[in-house]
Amino acid sequence: MESKIKIANNSYWVGYVDDRKVLFHRLILEKGTTYNSYLLDTEKPTIIDTVDIEFGRIFVENLSNMMDLSKLEYVIINHVEPDHAGGLPALMAKAKNAKIVTTALGAEELKKMFKLHNREYVIIHDGMTLDIGGKTLQFFETPFLHTEETMVTYCIEDQILYPCDQFSTHIANYELFNDLAKEDITEDFKVYYQLIMHPHRPYVQDMIKKIRKLDIKMIAPSHGYVLRENVEKYINAYDDMSRAKEGKKVAILFSTMTGNTTKVAKLMAEALENKNIVTRIINVDNADVDAVVEVIKESDGVFFGSSTRYADMVGNLETILKQLKDLDLSGKFAVAFGSYGWSGEAIEVINDYLKDTNLTVIDRSYIVKTTGMDDIQVPIRVKFKPEEESQTLGRTVQAIGDILVG
Ligand SMILES: Cc1cc2nc3c(=O)[nH]c(=O)nc-3n(C[C@H](O)[C@H](O)[C@H](O)COP(=O)(O)O)c2cc1C
Ligand SMILES: [Fe+2]
Ligand SMILES: [Fe+2]
Repeated sequence: MESKIKIANNSYWVGYVDDRKVLFHRLILEKGTTYNSYLLDTEKPTIIDTVDIEFGRIFVENLSNMMDLSKLEYVIINHVEPDHAGGLPALMAKAKNAKIVTTALGAEELKKMFKLHNREYVIIHDGMTLDIGGKTLQFFETPFLHTEETMVTYCIEDQILYPCDQFSTHIANYELFNDLAKEDITEDFKVYYQLIMHPHRPYVQDMIKKIRKLDIKMIAPSHGYVLRENVEKYINAYDDMSRAKEGKKVAILFSTMTGNTTKVAKLMAEALENKNIVTRIINVDNADVDAVVEVIKESDGVFFGSSTRYADMVGNLETILKQLKDLDLSGKFAVAFGSYGWSGEAIEVINDYLKDTNLTVIDRSYIVKTTGMDDIQVPIRVKFKPEEESQTLGRTVQAIGDILVG
């Protein structure tokens, strides 16, 4: 691919094509990928995103051949992952006068990652515009798509959306535009969405609401093809794929001594019902074991809870847990929870039981691996009555609910 391809008046692709099999997020990108960076060569020249850290030097060399980098005014960082922000240190070393435009969190992360403490930052807020001399950029925060600091950039005059990872495709290609692609890219586009964006689908819906208000003629993402044909089709695909599936069923099964765990169960049921999940709460101390097993078989997800009494579970819950090993529960999700006083061993013992079945156990490790969120604590542990924790509890259960409606 040439090192510079025109995408609009004074606007160019200046990225890098990696046509090897690329290792990424525990995947092998069989078709390789591209790292798309864009130069808006206006009165205040602006770069939107860079390239993977591995190609930072060659990226800056190419740019130096096109322009005097000391004249670069802005570098926009939509997303700080090193496959897009990785070229930033090399670029900033040459672009002595450039300001970095990003979200507040993005700026914090860039400072830590690349030691860019002494550079000037322009911190964006949702809907803010920036005049780059001949074109106007508008920024929208799109948190968790797919990491927390993420934003998108829209060029008002060109009607081009620069959404970084969003609307990307992992295909190394030298044609750049989707109407020039030699194969139908729809499947690759959907696979990318499923792997990278789908774990955050409520946020995809938020993003769609924001961009529906814009006139978008072209989407220039950071991997794969620039979409200039059937743009609406690709936006609709994100919209459709991120809508919650109806009719998922959850059972909340628990044992309690004095009713604190019952309160936790009720709060969780409320949060799940807010996600349109049909929820049943069963105190297993008063229930028939066979009937409970039937409920488990009919559910898409089951929460198992107990308070702690002398470092162990209470009531009948263990009888139920002992049955699980002999059942085929593959494809169903399970979560451990409980109220406790000071150590809450029962909750951890429940989690151990669950891990010994073919249920998919949602715990901290699962959440980090599937969503990248590191501040969600599962199993769910509530000290005594759920009071101060109820907000955290709601957020945690909603995150679990999002996994369930997947
Ligand atoms: C006899 C007894 C023993 C307890 N032992 C423990 C314990 O070993 N570890 C702990 O974290 N909490 C312990 N607790 C505290 C309870 O787990 C806590 O009060 C909890 O909120 C009770 O929830 P429940 O009403 O759902 O049973 C104990 C409470 C009682 C009454
Ligand atoms: Fe990313
Ligand atoms: Fe990426």
